Amino acid sequence: MKRYLICSGKGGVGKSTLSVCIARALCARGKSVLLVDCDVGLRSLDLLTGLGQSAVYTWQDVVSENCMLSDALLTDAVGRLSLLMPPAVLFEPISAEKFSQMLEKAAVDFDFCFLDAGAGVDGIVPMLAQASETALVVATPDSVSARAAAKTAEMLWQILPPERLRLLLNRYSVSAVRDGINLCADDMIDETGIRFLGAVPEDAGLRVLPCGKGIASRTASAFDRIAARLLGEAVPFSVRKF
Ligand SMILES: Nc1ncnc2c1ncn2[C@@H]1O[C@H](COP(=O)(O)OP(=O)(O)O)[C@@H](O)[C@H]1O
Ligand SMILES: [Mg+2]
Repeated sequence: MKRYLICSGKGGVGKSTLSVCIARALCARGKSVLLVDCDVGLRSLDLLTGLGQSAVYTWQDVVSENCMLSDALLTDAVGRLSLLMPPAVLFEPISAEKFSQMLEKAAVDFDFCFLDAGAGVDGIVPMLAQASETALVVATPDSVSARAAAKTAEMLWQILPPERLRLLLNRYSVSAVRDGINLCADDMIDETGIRFLGAVPEDAGLRVLPCGKGIASRTASAFDRIAARLLGEAVPFSVRKF
C-alpha cells in the first residue's frame, strides 16, 4: 500500500476535495483506496464521500486499541473506497510508529492510502509525514499559497527526501494566468521548490461532492491523469486546456 500525505500550509486550497477525487479516479482504475481524514476537530471527508452516516469509531480508537481496524472502516457500495474518521480531539499524543502500525494493518486490503491533513505545518502533520512515503503538497496558483507551500516543504524536507515531495496545483486557470491574476505553473514550481505532479482546473462542479454532478470532463480527465502518474504511467504535463 502506497502512503500519501495530502497537505498544505494553508486551509481551503482543496486538500480534501483532491484527496477524494484522486482516490475516486484510482478506484475507477480498479484500485482500492483508504482515505484517512486527519483534520482533527474539523472533519470533512464524511461529507465529501457520503460515507459518514454509520460512523461509530475513529482512527484514534484503532490506534489506542479501543476497536479493530475493521470496526472503524466505512466502505462504499463498490467496496473499493474506505474512510477512517478523525477524532474531534486527541486524548493523547499519537506516535508515528503507532499510526504506521495501524496503516500496516490496512496494507493487505488497500493499494493506496491518502492521509488528508488539516491546515498548518505543526500539530500532527509532521507525525503524518513520518508515517507517509510521499507528500503531495496542494497549492492554488497565488503568492500566498506558494509561500505556504514553500513553508510546508521546509518542514517536510526534514522528514522526507526531496524527491518524495510532489506539487498539486488546484484551481488552475489559463485565462487567469494570462490576465496576470494567477501565477503560472513554472512560477509555482520555482517559488515552492517542489516537483510538479499535476494540476486541477477551477470547476464549480467540485463544490457539490459527493454526488459530483456537473464535474467537467476536463476536470475528471485531470484527476485521471494524476491517478495514472501515481500508478507510474508517463503522462505528459499540460495545463493548456484549463
Ligand atoms: N478545483 C476547484 N474548483 C472550484 N472549487 C474548488 C476546487 N477545489 C476545491 N474547491 C472548493 O474550495 C473549498 C475548499 O476546499 P477543501 O477541499 O475543503 O480545502 P482544504 O481541505 O484544503 O481546506 C471547497 O468549497 C471546495 O469545494
Ligand atoms: Mg480539508
